[in-house]
Amino acid sequence: MSARIPTLEERIRSSLPAHVAIIMDGNGRWARRRGLPRPAGHREGVKAVRRIVECCRAEGIQVLTLFAFSSENWRRPKTEVRLLLELFAATLQREVDALHRNGVQIRFIGERTAFPERLVRMMASAEATTAENDGLVLVIAVNYGGRWDLVQAMRHLAVEVAAGRVDPGEIDEARIAGHLSLADLPEPDLFIRTGGEQRISNFLLWQLAYTELYFTDVLWPDFDADCFREALAWFAGRQRRFGHTGEQVEQLKGA
Ligand code: IPE
Ligand code: IPE
Ligand code: MG
Repeated sequence: MSARIPTLEERIRSSLPAHVAIIMDGNGRWARRRGLPRPAGHREGVKAVRRIVECCRAEGIQVLTLFAFSSENWRRPKTEVRLLLELFAATLQREVDALHRNGVQIRFIGERTAFPERLVRMMASAEATTAENDGLVLVIAVNYGGRWDLVQAMRHLAVEVAAGRVDPGEIDEARIAGHLSLADLPEPDLFIRTGGEQRISNFLLWQLAYTELYFTDVLWPDFDADCFREALAWFAGRQRRFGHTGEQVEQLKGA
């Protein structure tokens, strides 16, 4: 069971995003402002994850994708990388049962081979345990990069071409999209980045082509239900045109 893909018309009409994708940024600054070490910010950030997952369930959001660790985050000091991976493993261990009871389907996107064996097993087990759940689909992006995603999709396509199963002329948007992460899910409708930076940081590059982009200065550990609802209200006020004119969209919504 997974989320239903809305039609273009449904995406234009809907005031509620089917899929919210979040760059959870600002943990380090949250800690430093309190005179605390950066890890304290990451730990507080986990509480915000719990809050926002609950909000998404309450609001009837179908898919929530969270950027937890980017392919570039390996550039951080070794101690911080180690702490982030430990926190990720500990959080998984602690939260999976409750998420499962609440009908949440857990998935991970990103290159897993870089992770310790034990963590890879935990991730696979969380996915297997919750695979049949039909509630919120919670996608965690770890060691994920939008460019990595495109590279792995191109590799898969190249294998198909080399094997003679696909003709290069048959490669179109749908075929490429089909090999990318999140292929079977609705595209993100609403992107949120906390922490004040206005950039994508190599998150979902292809998939964000027509996503509404929301930036807030609130640091991730401070992001709460009110902040989330504010983002949803902002989204509801957007006119999504997908290339149409505003008049066409108004007509379609009025119909
Ligand atoms: C986001 O917070 C968490 C990760 C990238 C893992 P940061 O750690 O980037 O926090 P700032 O941007 O330094 O405040
Ligand atoms: C993006 O945040 C990655 C995650 C939130 C996991 P960063 O804090 O790493 O992004 P940059 O380096 O400021 O662009
Ligand atoms: Mg940051």
